[in-house]
Amino acid sequence: MSQKKPLTVSNFTKRYGNFTAVKDLSFEIRPGEIFGLLGPNGAGKTSIISTIMTLQKMTSGRIEIFGIDVAKKPKAAKKLSGYTPQEIVNHGFFRVEQILKYHANHYGLKKTKKEIEHLLKKLDLDSHKEKYVNQISGGMKRRLMIAKALIHEPKLLLLDEPTAGVDLELRHSLWALLHKLKTRGISILLTTHYLEEAERLCDRVGILKEGKLKQIDEVKNLLEEHSLKKVSLTLKNRLKEIKHPLLQSQEEDQLHFRIPPKMNIYELLSQVGLPCEEILDVKTQPGSLEDVMENILKKEETR
Ligand SMILES: Nc1ncnc2c1ncn2[C@@H]1O[C@H](COP(=O)(O)OP(=O)(O)OP(=O)(O)O)[C@@H](O)[C@H]1O
Ligand SMILES: [Mg+2]
Repeated sequence: MSQKKPLTVSNFTKRYGNFTAVKDLSFEIRPGEIFGLLGPNGAGKTSIISTIMTLQKMTSGRIEIFGIDVAKKPKAAKKLSGYTPQEIVNHGFFRVEQILKYHANHYGLKKTKKEIEHLLKKLDLDSHKEKYVNQISGGMKRRLMIAKALIHEPKLLLLDEPTAGVDLELRHSLWALLHKLKTRGISILLTTHYLEEAERLCDRVGILKEGKLKQIDEVKNLLEEHSLKKVSLTLKNRLKEIKHPLLQSQEEDQLHFRIPPKMNIYELLSQVGLPCEEILDVKTQPGSLEDVMENILKKEETR
């Protein structure tokens, strides 16, 4: 039996009046993957997620969550998915624990105190459960939003910048949580401006610019194809000026190269014509998703 895709977006266009925010977008989320939607401010990420959650009307196209057409059966689709918006929602007059109870009721679920406590613990919110929402910090509010999104045990999570404004420690523990959810078979779509986060967390990413999908691939493929490794060689003896297309700069006894990720140091040395005995030290730094984004977005500009 073929497994239904957690999310399928087909030929989706979103216009606000005359302005096209998302143009003819098609992509899917595979079961159990973490997928990152990346792109500069205004690229269309929130428009996509909020339309998937039926908070916005699509102009044209089709979106399905586990085979359910979200425009036709929004309630059924929402039951299978959890969502955190980009903007923090501040339910200031309620206590943390109350919010989760109300939210469970909204889905027609009777959650026991124990079940709610378990969820609070999972998000390190248990010591704040008695507090009013306006008494907890911004990072804690983000955690509460994720707890809300998880209360009905959805199989698909849509997180719009879940770690914006979250400190490093909290961010790391959120990454661990998302990894854990993934191992339980939950599929996750997230947006983020932290490219290191996307590199660590995501199996695949889609890179958007001005509402159009410019690239979609596994992170490791993008790194192989669109980034360069940094290699710095310290030499025993100062060389006269050398010329090589991969050489970025040369200073006294230092040579700095940007090389394809698959090229090894011996290939580089043989290409440049440097014997191993001449090398005192080697420092390498892998390419990053930041390079990938820069390359892809820049390429578009120069076209
Ligand atoms: N309600 C709206 N009415 C008119 N234009 C809108 C509306 N919402 C978004 N837009 C426009 O659509 C484009 C995409 O916005 P969107 O919020 O989807 O981008 P984003 O990728 O989420 O950006 P960010 O990284 O800043 O969150 C922007 O040009 C924005 O100004
Ligand atoms: Mg946004």
